[in-house]
Amino acid sequence: MIFTNLIKTNLRTKEFGKEIEYYQRLDSTNNEAWELINNGETQHGMIVITDYQFKGKGRSGNSWFMSPSKGIAMSLILQKPLPFNLAGLIPLVAGVAMARTLKNRNFNPKLKWPNDILLNQKKVGGILCESKISKKSVNTMVVGIGLNVNETRNDFPENLIKTASSLSIESKHPHQRELIVAIFATYFEQCIELVQHSPQELITEWETFCGHLNQTITFKFDGNSLSGLFKGVNNLGQAVIIIDGNEQVFPSIILD
Ligand code: BTN
Repeated sequence: MIFTNLIKTNLRTKEFGKEIEYYQRLDSTNNEAWELINNGETQHGMIVITDYQFKGKGRSGNSWFMSPSKGIAMSLILQKPLPFNLAGLIPLVAGVAMARTLKNRNFNPKLKWPNDILLNQKKVGGILCESKISKKSVNTMVVGIGLNVNETRNDFPENLIKTASSLSIESKHPHQRELIVAIFATYFEQCIELVQHSPQELITEWETFCGHLNQTITFKFDGNSLSGLFKGVNNLGQAVIIIDGNEQVFPSIILD
């Protein structure tokens, strides 16, 4: 059970999280968010959240595992038009907001491009941004956030045990999910404001949280596994990566 009033009490926002759609079970909060959007039932900053997401979507067509009543699966709806250059930065903005949230809870989070959230080199969270674009701008974006919170090692399926972790495994005590959602929504709203006024500041903050600056990374792009030296993020939110001596850029978001 997620107590939405507990989320609302802890929010320090103007718009984000003022409306929360809570479901006990859902296939995917991102899918539900799009359904609500298509039915005209949403407003900017609305949060869709569930206690048990049983068919969560990850990046690159992967699935996202959630242990019932232990993790966070939520989607935040952005419904104000964003110019293309800013839209490409939103996954990084969400990453910074989540990193700030975990820092606020006394963790030492690292971000792995494009938007894995790591504690002690293990993945505790991920972000999946989906968008609808018009000619000149991105009109609607669904920012999906998955975070492992109170899972124990036994809660993870065999294939994730070595690479995944949760906040409670790392800190050795449980965490209140509602508080984490409220802190995240508050930082996310602040970071969206920051990126509009001072994108470079946001990019620099992302790079300070990045755990692999000037290191070789392996990543998936267009279904291919690539590897190269990660040099940072440019002002469009594209990763700058040197592959076989050639500098190449890769978007942090796929706009469709
Ligand atoms: C990834 O690291 O691959 C991204 C995972 C994103 C998972 C979240 S959970 C809430 C939202 N709804 C989904 O179906 N996926 C995202």
